[in-house]
Amino acid sequence: MLTIALSKGKLLDPTLEVFRRAGYASPSVMRDSRKLVFPCPEIGVTFLIVRPTDVPTYVEYGAADVGICGKDVLLEQDSDVYEPLDLGFGACKIAVAALRGQGSRNRLSSKIRVATKYPNITEQYFNQRGVPVELIKLYGSIELAPLVGLADRIVDLVETGSTLKAHDLVEVEVIARSTARLIVNRASLKLKHATVTELIHKLRAVGPAKRGIAPRRSSQTAKRARK
Ligand code: PRP
Repeated sequence: MLTIALSKGKLLDPTLEVFRRAGYASPSVMRDSRKLVFPCPEIGVTFLIVRPTDVPTYVEYGAADVGICGKDVLLEQDSDVYEPLDLGFGACKIAVAALRGQGSRNRLSSKIRVATKYPNITEQYFNQRGVPVELIKLYGSIELAPLVGLADRIVDLVETGSTLKAHDLVEVEVIARSTARLIVNRASLKLKHATVTELIHKLRAVGPAKRGIAPRRSSQTAKRARK
């Protein structure tokens, strides 16, 4: 049996669709159930549904052999996992944003305050540019921070750009681009080599979401799906 950790939220639907097309059909109840473990002996897989930021931890420690999560999560956590496949869907950017009209404000001589749920990516980005920053770690609704004077900048995911627009924020710079990735536990790659490589080959053969696996949803629908 292969244990596979799936990210709940916006990546779940396109992930299940890619797996279905690759021959690993999961029970439809997975999308709505409160259950977290779904044994599927007929396809030799147990699916786990976990928070996206927890997927690398499950895989690194071997609680799951394989996982699917965004590149943003991998960049932030720097986990010791093998990353053999870019699944192509879930495309978004990790970007610096500011209130309209304040994006080019020159505050390089004093510390700027940056709110983010990506403190490591943010610190590395500004350090490399020699810009002193005070990081403010938040866990969601990052766009609120500049509106209420909590931060001068934010570093956050931008998918459609509609959340930035709705809060009169503008993208200042793109730090990185992200898509969904398949990650594999290093021991599982050796001990379950045939099963893991078969999964990788089948997912690769199915191809990325650009073939219509992840139709673009309205930002409201996408937002609801992430909650
Ligand atoms: C993410 C991100 C932005 C939004 C970007 O938030 O943090 O807020 O999506 O999407 P858009 O460019 O399509 O508008 P998420 O919905 O994951 O919730 P959060 O704000 O609680 O982190």
